[in-house]
Amino acid sequence: MAVIEIKGLKRLYELDGITVRALKGVDFSAEQGEFVAVMGPSGSGKSTLMNILGCLDKPSAGTYTLDGIETSISDTDTFAFIRNQKIGFVFQAFNLLSRTSAIENVELPLLYSKTRIKDARVRAEAALNEVGLGSRLHHMPSQLSGGQQQRVAIARAMVNDPAFILADEPTGNLDTEMTLEIMALFQQLNNRGKTIVMVTHEPELAVYMKRIITLRDGEIVSDTKVTERRSAADDLAKWKREHEELSTFAVANIVSRTAALNVIEEAS
Ligand SMILES: Nc1ncnc2c1ncn2[C@@H]1O[C@H](COP(=O)(O)OP(=O)(O)OP(=O)(O)O)[C@@H](O)[C@H]1O
Ligand SMILES: [Mg+2]
Repeated sequence: MAVIEIKGLKRLYELDGITVRALKGVDFSAEQGEFVAVMGPSGSGKSTLMNILGCLDKPSAGTYTLDGIETSISDTDTFAFIRNQKIGFVFQAFNLLSRTSAIENVELPLLYSKTRIKDARVRAEAALNEVGLGSRLHHMPSQLSGGQQQRVAIARAMVNDPAFILADEPTGNLDTEMTLEIMALFQQLNNRGKTIVMVTHEPELAVYMKRIITLRDGEIVSDTKVTERRSAADDLAKWKREHEELSTFAVANIVSRTAALNVIEEAS
């Protein structure tokens, strides 16, 4: 069964008597275990599609079935339930509560879903271990690097065991090293069967996913399989090696320059 099934999806916006057709009839489905990049130029409808996939908005026409539930006909409570239980959100800006520790941030979705506090703690800790932050449970967001904050957000997205993860430019605020770390983590979660849909502007990130959907003017203009998929963990290791060589070279350079200056000083 498809996790996501979208048929004839349209979204119109009415603004000052003008109708904007942001989505003009989109069809696509994703099976469990897929890792899909959603790309396309500015204004092509990516956020509109994401809002519908995330049950933050309903389409003007067409259907969206998530994990077997037809969302567009569901009432407000069911719609909110689907959003909280079936989707794990990861945003560009991390969206963590700032005065709340890593583990408490991760527990939050469980407390909303009325999980017992003791169970919530155990599951939140397991989720933080899974993203490699087992030693940072009680750190506040301000005491964590950007990459670590995003890993807390990913643990929070995973803790409810959602049907899929919806990530909107999750590496937009991160440098190269942290970006590769996050992509490696997503690949690791995906290898264990988690379905992931990720909006990105960066073509170089799409090579870490399995499938690329491109939107243009509210329509899907291509839907391709990534044939030469790269390993983000390998690329991260390579980046670190090169970076270390570079800094070793820089240090050696400074040492030899200082030595040269000493020689000049001694001579004068
Ligand atoms: N609330 C709204 N009211 C009216 N028009 C809207 C609204 N939201 C989006 N649009 C229009 O719908 C179209 C698609 O917008 P959308 O935000 O989905 O694009 P996008 O692909 O996410 O772009 P970007 O890469 O710049 O974020 C655009 O033409 C936009 O102007
Ligand atoms: Mg957008």
